[in-house]
Amino acid sequence: MKLYIETLGCAMNMRDSEHMIAELRSKEGYELTHEAQEADLILINTCSVREKPERKLFSEIGQFAKIKKPGAKIGVCGCTASHMGEEIIKKAPSVNFVLGARNVSKISEVIHKNKAVEVELDYDDSTYVFDASRNTGVKALLNISIGCDKKCAYCIVPHTRGKEISIPSDMIVSEARKLAQNGVKELMLLGQNVNNYGVRFSTKHKRINFADLLREISDIEGIQRIRFTSPHPLHMDDEFLEEFATNTKVCKSIHMPLQSGSSNILKKMRRGYNKEWYLNRVQKLQSLLPNVTIGTDIIVGFPGESEEDFDHTMDVLQKVQFDTLYSFVYSPRPHTESHLWGDEGRVPSEIASARLSRLQAMHREILTLKAKKEIGNTHQVLVENIKETGDVFSEGRSDNGKLIKIPDEVFKIGDIVSVKVIHNEGGSLIGRPVI
Ligand code: 5AD
Ligand code: SF4
Repeated sequence: MKLYIETLGCAMNMRDSEHMIAELRSKEGYELTHEAQEADLILINTCSVREKPERKLFSEIGQFAKIKKPGAKIGVCGCTASHMGEEIIKKAPSVNFVLGARNVSKISEVIHKNKAVEVELDYDDSTYVFDASRNTGVKALLNISIGCDKKCAYCIVPHTRGKEISIPSDMIVSEARKLAQNGVKELMLLGQNVNNYGVRFSTKHKRINFADLLREISDIEGIQRIRFTSPHPLHMDDEFLEEFATNTKVCKSIHMPLQSGSSNILKKMRRGYNKEWYLNRVQKLQSLLPNVTIGTDIIVGFPGESEEDFDHTMDVLQKVQFDTLYSFVYSPRPHTESHLWGDEGRVPSEIASARLSRLQAMHREILTLKAKKEIGNTHQVLVENIKETGDVFSEGRSDNGKLIKIPDEVFKIGDIVSVKVIHNEGGSLIGRPVI
């Protein structure tokens, strides 16, 4: 039996896809294929955070229905499945089942039920032991919590993934140990608000916060690097920042989703912090770790955003000098607070797009300057990719998240190599090993 799976959206969705693949492989005997035409089961793991990919879902289902083998099944999973539920089957009768983002552990049940819709938001997946047969290299994704308790006015995720529950730390640690025994060196811990870890468990559990969890995981032999996504700026207290800075296994690269630099807009967004708090946390972080890299997400054109509000966002961009930026035009989503405001405060799309272009142009300038400053710096690179014929090279990421290519050298995947940056080719860093 062959499985074709398409994964959209964030790292949580990637991990959910891995879960489903592992379950279907061990319990149902499926093997992955990259050709939808030859699959017996086609899964689309959807994202609903913005409207555009969601709109494309139905044309995609139509395409799959046309090319699939007779008798092959189509399943829609993930966030769009959660919030549209049965409507998906009504609109697209070729879909055999709908499985919500919080219900992925039911995959081997739903494939046997025709027209099943499993989108229960109260479903507790947090103590579910997934099958261990995952295909991992030196890096692995590991969930530490499910769901989200925040009420950001623009965001559909609390509606699609339900309330926040932390996974018991002994389950996380034992999974991390297994991964380390299988050769994993770098873990990416996943959750909607990872640094809110420990706020609610579904079973009796000792009090433990995210800094404690980082300490427990870093004690595991074989795990050499720990990353996590996404932390919330509101929960970046001193204990967290100090653990982040001093734990030698924790990579010095962090995602700090800003969303807006204007305190007015942050308040309307219900982010729980203002511009000053955000800048203060960045300052504290940069004073502890001058070489830390910081990434962010920014939404422009949120209802009510004035030119002055947008200037505050540009100001934060200048002050922080982000290393990575994911930026989006606001997209109204059902089941969110800002959707209920209708046209009130709506920013015309030409203005929002122009702001997005200005933001991205300024970020490109920042990156060009930063890349120049990188020349001469030495980094520890975890080799993730090698090319052994033709123009041979090795490639990997530094501890602080920079992708560095090492031409003419073939290391082993998983090696950690000391590399000096010698060149910047249009923003990509080229390095030479330091002996
Ligand atoms: N419109 C635009 N961008 C959004 N995001 C979340 N919801 C919306 C929305 N309604 C962005 C945020 C978030 C990232 C994953 O997607 O920046 O951090
Ligand atoms: Fe991930 Fe959010 Fe998209 Fe769901 S809606 S897949 S949680 S980004």
